Amino acid sequence: MSFTVPEQAPARLNRSELAVPGSSTRFLEKAAGSNADMVFLDLEDAVTPSDKPQARKNIIAALNDLDWSGKTVSVRINGLDTHYMYRDVVDLVEQAGDKIDLIMIPKVGTASDVYAVDMLVTQICAAKGFTNKIGFEMIIETALGMQNVHEIAAASPRNESLHFGVADYAASTKARTTAIGGPNPGYGVLTDALDDAGRRDFHWGDMWHYAIARMVVAARANGLRPIDGPFGDIKDLDGYRAQAMRAAILGCEGKWAIHPTQVDAANDVFSPSDAEVAKANAILAAMEQAQKEGKGAVTLDGRLIDIASIKQAEVMVQTAAAIKG
Ligand code: GLV
Ligand code: MG
Repeated sequence: MSFTVPEQAPARLNRSELAVPGSSTRFLEKAAGSNADMVFLDLEDAVTPSDKPQARKNIIAALNDLDWSGKTVSVRINGLDTHYMYRDVVDLVEQAGDKIDLIMIPKVGTASDVYAVDMLVTQICAAKGFTNKIGFEMIIETALGMQNVHEIAAASPRNESLHFGVADYAASTKARTTAIGGPNPGYGVLTDALDDAGRRDFHWGDMWHYAIARMVVAARANGLRPIDGPFGDIKDLDGYRAQAMRAAILGCEGKWAIHPTQVDAANDVFSPSDAEVAKANAILAAMEQAQKEGKGAVTLDGRLIDIASIKQAEVMVQTAAAIKG
């Protein structure tokens, strides 16, 4: 281990994060009763410019009047390149700052963006005498944000999580797609000839692999949760689960649900299965026995396991325990 040990953000369940447009009081009410671990009340892209003032009022009323117990509540403010953002922060934090767990900052480009929001939030909380610590979730969804992802992750003690905003990221990088996440039939490789007739297979690749993997590293190196963003094809739950699983396997703790039907799938995929937990416990037991016998490595079911396996298994067991509560 390095002598530097990253401080961990407060632990919170973040398997599913339901997006709710602030313009709809009906959706806000429904969200308070959903199974999502987290909800983010949106003032940004789900709300048209003319609806923004009313959406702010709706969200402030929802934070103050609805019962959000059992969930973490976040509010997505507008980007720092708009004139909505300062009013979002001032109105929300002044009028409901003691009810907000997290503020989600979209399209973060530099560490200074985080600093600016931190300064505003800190001043307002001090003026109002709020003692709760409002955390930050940052959406990495521009080429600039991805370039600076490590500095962004380290920019404030309020930081809790990084999110991959695949749609804006595609636009910002000029990726050749109009889908919101998911695979792309054009992104793949042709195998060499498989037989004498020269037949070849086309293997689809995951065009988002690099971006998610890079964000996961920046998040983990700074003690933050990495979270995968939206999947737009709301009829395709199998596709959603597949995208969620590959994010989980890379180290993400959860995924957005941009429709309530995606919430249960996210909760399920980001909860280790009984079989995974049993295997992790078997590794811990085998390594405990190995260490008693003075061995650093043993075989379990024909595979080598060693001291690093203990840490891997502990991650699995601790995640499962946190979910059980
Ligand atoms: C989310 O905000 C996205 O752009 O995908
Ligand atoms: Mg976006």
